Amino acid sequence: MARFDDSRPEMTAEEFRLLRDHVYSHCGILVHEDMKFVMERRLWPRLEALGALDFSAYHRYLRYDANRHVELEAAVESLTTHETYFFREPSQLKAFREELFPLLEKRNARTRRLRLWSAGCSSGEEAYTLAMLLKDERRFDDWDVEVYGTDISRRVLTMARRAEYGPSALRATSADLLERFFVPVPAAPTKVRVRDDVRAMVSFGHHNLLDETGSQLVAKMDAVFCRNVMIYFDQSARRKVLRILRDRLVPGGYLLLGHSENLLNLGADFELVHLRGDLVYRRPELPGLTGGEPR
Ligand SMILES: C[S@@+](CC[C@H](N)C(=O)[O-])C[C@H]1O[C@@H](n2cnc3c(N)ncnc32)[C@H](O)[C@@H]1O
Repeated sequence: MARFDDSRPEMTAEEFRLLRDHVYSHCGILVHEDMKFVMERRLWPRLEALGALDFSAYHRYLRYDANRHVELEAAVESLTTHETYFFREPSQLKAFREELFPLLEKRNARTRRLRLWSAGCSSGEEAYTLAMLLKDERRFDDWDVEVYGTDISRRVLTMARRAEYGPSALRATSADLLERFFVPVPAAPTKVRVRDDVRAMVSFGHHNLLDETGSQLVAKMDAVFCRNVMIYFDQSARRKVLRILRDRLVPGGYLLLGHSENLLNLGADFELVHLRGDLVYRRPELPGLTGGEPR
């Protein structure tokens, strides 16, 4: 196979447009004009792996090859950011725990069931963080509680299921939490594993947030965390994802976004809820319904 260390093909403006549009229509991630060189650099290994001589050939592969779905995942993988860690955005988690947990407890008192979704969960830290918060909150003992983590990247989902983490993932985790929710990994001294009882509360699945049909398979949720995912999307993709997420929430269910994200100008059908410690969004209640409605 040709090695192009010395003569790597350049990405033309037209190739950039075609590849960018292809990636965007699949997963909503918008690669900006000034990222052309980044895209070029990140996709070179893919061209090399396939023996594609230039980006036009690579684009044709993505469109027509029998293996195109696998390759599109690899392309998206090389263009996505998976940065995450346990107990990220602590003030939001505090508001969730202190102000929304009591409301959710009251709402679901009849069913004694709670479903949380970490949508765009990356390697699982956010989903496990939610499970740890629930565990710490004795009010949900004996409830049927589930946390669901989904991501478009199968690579990070494998890491999430393995549940072993190093210092970077634990940079905001206190010694106390570390002690209570993690166990050492004997074979890897710098790593710890999430305790089995926490792992048992969480399940992971592959899901593209823009996939309307696939989302119908996701159970109705009491709260969705979709943090630091839509920052990479444009308005139109955000609008679509928000419509899908809204549909997956029970009426009165909550949507929590990352700190740098909001629903301004999105016309999304959510209510803004002012908590003492944070702003969150809520799917409006059905008229006349106050809780525990069928899912
Ligand atoms: C920066 S991480 C955020 C992780 C976590 N939510 C947090 O805030 O720490 C963004 C994740 O969104 C995922 N993602 C990007 N586009 C997606 C899509 N269309 N559907 C599902 N997940 C997507 C990426 O694979 C990545 O793991």
